[in-house]
Amino acid sequence: MTTFHKHNSLNSRQEHLLHRLYAEQQQFLHISPQSMQQIAAEFSLPLSQIEAVVAFYSFFSTRPRGQFDILFSNCTSCGYLADGHNLLLMLAEQLQVTPGTTRDDGVVSIDETSCIGMCDQGASLLVNGTPLTRLNADRIAAIRQKITANTPVTNWPREWFEVHEKIHQRSLLLSEQLICASALKKALSTSAEAVLATILQSGLCGRGGAGFNTGKKWQFCRDAPGHAHYVVCNADEGEPGTFKDRLLLHQHADTLFEGMTLCAFAIGAEQGFVYLRGEYRYLLGHLLSVLEQRRCQGLLGKHILGNAQFHFDIEIVVGAGAYICGEESALIESLEGKPGIPRIRPPFPVTHGYKGQPTVINNVETFIAAAHVVAHDSDWFKAVGTDHSTGSKILSISGDCRFPGIYEYPFGTHIQNILDDCGAHTVQAIQIGGPAGKLIGAANLHRTISFEDLPSGGSFLIFGQQRDLLAVHRNFAHFFAHESCGFCTPCRVGTQLLKSSLDKIASGHGTARDVSELKRLSDLIQHHSHCGLGHTAANHVLDSLQDFPQTFESHLKQHLTAQFDLDQALACARQIRQHHDTTHPG
Ligand SMILES: Cc1cc2nc3c(=O)[nH]c(=O)nc-3n(C[C@H](O)[C@H](O)[C@H](O)COP(=O)(O)O)c2cc1C
Ligand code: SF4
Repeated sequence: MTTFHKHNSLNSRQEHLLHRLYAEQQQFLHISPQSMQQIAAEFSLPLSQIEAVVAFYSFFSTRPRGQFDILFSNCTSCGYLADGHNLLLMLAEQLQVTPGTTRDDGVVSIDETSCIGMCDQGASLLVNGTPLTRLNADRIAAIRQKITANTPVTNWPREWFEVHEKIHQRSLLLSEQLICASALKKALSTSAEAVLATILQSGLCGRGGAGFNTGKKWQFCRDAPGHAHYVVCNADEGEPGTFKDRLLLHQHADTLFEGMTLCAFAIGAEQGFVYLRGEYRYLLGHLLSVLEQRRCQGLLGKHILGNAQFHFDIEIVVGAGAYICGEESALIESLEGKPGIPRIRPPFPVTHGYKGQPTVINNVETFIAAAHVVAHDSDWFKAVGTDHSTGSKILSISGDCRFPGIYEYPFGTHIQNILDDCGAHTVQAIQIGGPAGKLIGAANLHRTISFEDLPSGGSFLIFGQQRDLLAVHRNFAHFFAHESCGFCTPCRVGTQLLKSSLDKIASGHGTARDVSELKRLSDLIQHHSHCGLGHTAANHVLDSLQDFPQTFESHLKQHLTAQFDLDQALACARQIRQHHDTTHPG
């Protein structure tokens, strides 16, 4: 692989720290204190940094995991709607493993993990890092047999690992495979300024969720001073219910790399990265082979397509199980070989990104859309969508519908149309954009997918009338409490409190006071947290309090306002002691 710069998260053999730690974990099933010391020396990094990285990422462990390391996805689709949690308990019982532990003989460990991006594939798990889909009781029994017989995972039936990509609706991006290099050849026949102008005119905005104008982002980065500029593709796709980047990485990798190369040409970058979520490691071989093909075709490396001034290459860095690393500044920290703790912004990555240098970070879909924009032109793109939301959006649809899978629609499409297409007929609610997004009910089906109405990264989780929304909220609250990086108190403590409150209400011990506290706590988390995770972690509760109040009220303990008046109970004791609690605490 051609690499033009040396990065200090790499050792002398040009290996990324996360990859080195992953190899250690795979070989020895844990990362020991001695290994950490050795790796610190190899990378010339302080031991404390290695320890912090190992502690931060959920795919690393200081205690041995099983030779068969099984992680069930606990996202709403797999864990709750597809009954994944019960399948976990079933396998744990059959193999006599306590969930969350490794069996005494070291053969097998069973635990849960956050969404693995297989929401349209039925209940799913990772075995030694590889996704295994469409779980049911029969498959669980068959897995038990393989583990008991000590059959290596590589010899398990291939169909267990199949990921069926189902595309039900196509618009601009999925209707055609872009001809390899067509956009790049066109771009190189013009100028970097012309490419930027085309992207700006197209009105393309980021597809990762926040919707920032892509042309402006590229322009800011190009204009920012620095001794190197970088292009980063955010392929972390950790928002539960989202799996459209999985399809794009699998079927449109060449166009993705073309989009990244166009960006490099526009901003003057020589190095790019794809930050691939650890759960999608199974796609790594495919992505590397597409990169290698492009190098052979002169589309990456030095003097791209014979252009004396244009050198660019792409490296893939694989994450290790941390949702927060999808946040762009946390992603950069991770790329630099550190724990993924979000940076204080501003400054933003466009001026101070990777290694403190100007960096463009875009979602997979954004780069692919950019390649299409350049290959066709901005008018072709703008002809679809709305004035403020040009082009199309790819959705990941799962939950209570007949046809889960991938759907691409022009922006401006009504939610009701989408529900009709995917066969969702008795809808109680839809979570749009994942747990961090927006919960809507029947009164809002006339609304549209668009930046001006319901913006999102593209996840649609559908809940039928039979579903208990409180179970959904608990699932989301557990997710955020687990994924909070712990850096700031409002999020670290607040997400735990939110989880506990919802658990209490679900257990039938909640009071009306607990429900009013939910609102106060949610506001606090939303307004006082450091990064986007905290800002959005309580959205689902706030939406439900407003539109689905019965979700909580129906579980309250006899609808009481207070269970116990502490002040009243203490009054008598105060009288006896003849002093007041506030002046003499304790
Ligand atoms: C907690 C959190 C997780 C995120 N996860 C992702 C992700 O998985 N993929 C993504 O593209 N953007 C994610 N984002 C948004 C990124 O920070 C960033 O805005 C995006 O990558 C920019 O690309 P775009 O302009 O092409 O959308 C996340 C943001 C937050 C706050
Ligand atoms: S808001 Fe949460 S995820 Fe973000 S920095 Fe604070 S603790 Fe970390």
